[in-house]
Amino acid sequence: MSLRALLPASCAVVEHAGRWPDAPLHPDEARALGPVAEARRAEFAAGRGCARAALAALGRPAAPIGRGDDRAPRWPAGVVGSITHCAGYVAAAVAATATARSLGIDAEPDQPLPADVLATVASATERRWLAAAPPGPVCWDRLLFSAKESVYKAWRPLAGTWLGFEDVELTIDPATASFAAAIAAPGPFRRVVGRFAVTATHVLTAVHVAGG
Ligand SMILES: CC(C)(COP(=O)(O)OP(=O)(O)OC[C@H]1O[C@@H](n2cnc3c(N)ncnc32)[C@H](O)[C@@H]1OP(=O)(O)O)[C@@H](O)C(=O)NCCC(=O)NCCS
Repeated sequence: MSLRALLPASCAVVEHAGRWPDAPLHPDEARALGPVAEARRAEFAAGRGCARAALAALGRPAAPIGRGDDRAPRWPAGVVGSITHCAGYVAAAVAATATARSLGIDAEPDQPLPADVLATVASATERRWLAAAPPGPVCWDRLLFSAKESVYKAWRPLAGTWLGFEDVELTIDPATASFAAAIAAPGPFRRVVGRFAVTATHVLTAVHVAGG
């Protein structure tokens, strides 16, 4: 199962498992990134490489993908999208604004969250669910974290505002490999659903906010 399967066919998805492919940075992208360590440049470039390939798959002309003050990618007019990278995985997903209002994707290693991180990202209700969760093919706490990251990436470009972990109550449905997020903060949506997949090494989550 891959990220491709988590999003509608109207989205273009480019993903790589394993070593990140080398990708050249456009000079405008390099300027937007600024001076950083080589590891950071490599992940940024790998994400931009996927994003450019996804734009091409959507039939859009090649263009540098900028970076906003909030660190979100700046997509060409008429396009929404999202980027994720972590050790052993990188992906980008894009869609025309005629079919999607926003997208959020996230990948995490399928490993337990450190206890102090879990205390920060999960509510008491979510922690109760995690404590009773069925033994499954995935670290549910890591999945919860990834799902909230995907929700944030879809939220931020639409809302223009911060969304804290405490603002989102997540309900995971293992049977349908989906999740629903109830959002307490004022903004563009109060509820959004997403889907998840588990590979041999990673947890993948995706949120597609439909509309146009
Ligand atoms: C921004 C954030 C979501 C990135 O997630 P991450 O798991 O650390 O890292 P990922 O590799 O999956 O994603 C990084 C990419 O997200 C994208 N991104 C960064 N800031 C973003 C934002 N404000 N909005 C949308 N996308 C953003 C970028 O493309 C970035 O990669 P790049 O800088 O190389 O272009 C995370 O660092 C963060 O700030 N989280 C706190 C807010 C939050 O998650 N709240 C949860 C509420 S439910």
